Amino acid sequence: MSKTPKAPVSTMPQGIQPRGERRRITVTLNGRERSGYCEPRDLMSDFLRHELGATGTHVGCEHGVCGACTVHIDGVAARSCLMLAVQADGRRIETVEGLAPDQTLGDLQQAFQRHHALQCGFCTAGILMSCADYLKRVPDPNEAQVRDMLSGHLCRCTGYTPIVAAVLDVAARRREAQEEKETSDA
Ligand code: FES
Ligand code: FES
Repeated sequence: MSKTPKAPVSTMPQGIQPRGERRRITVTLNGRERSGYCEPRDLMSDFLRHELGATGTHVGCEHGVCGACTVHIDGVAARSCLMLAVQADGRRIETVEGLAPDQTLGDLQQAFQRHHALQCGFCTAGILMSCADYLKRVPDPNEAQVRDMLSGHLCRCTGYTPIVAAVLDVAARRREAQEEKETSDA
C-alpha cells in the first residue's frame, strides 16, 4: 500500500516572513524620491547605507545607544538602527548629506569646524542631525539644555565641550541674523 506524501511543514514562526523575501520601498531622501529593495528584517540604517549609498549615516552600536545613526524621519530626529526599512516606506528621510546639498557646509557644520567639535568624525553625522532638529525647536538654548540634548550621543574622542560651544555659537548667530532681518524689514 502506497503512502500519501505529507505536505512540507513550515518551521517558520507565525508572523515571521521567510528570509530572502525582498520588498521594494520608496522614500524621499534629502528631497529626492529614491527606491530600493530590502528584506523585512533589514534595518533602516543598513538600507540607507547599503541600498541607497547614503553612507554619511554611521552605525555604531545598532542598539539605540550611541546615536551615530540619527537621521530625520518626517522632520524629527530618530535612530535609524531602531527602525525597520519597511517602516520607512513612503516617508521623508533627511541624512547628514542633506545638510550640505550643494557641497557647501551649512552653518551648523561650519560652527563644528570653527570649534574643532570633531576628531575622527564617527559620531558627528548623528550629532549634527540631532542638533539640527533641536535648534529648530529650541532656538535659544542654554548650556545645560544643550548638554542634556547631547546626552543621547556618545563621542569617544572629541569630548563634549567644543560640541556644546559650536551649538551655542550657531544658535547665537542665527538669532542675530533673524534680529537683523526683522530690523531691516521694519
Ligand atoms: S547605531 Fe543606532 S544608536 Fe548606535
Ligand atoms: S569625533 Fe570621534 S567619536 Fe566623536
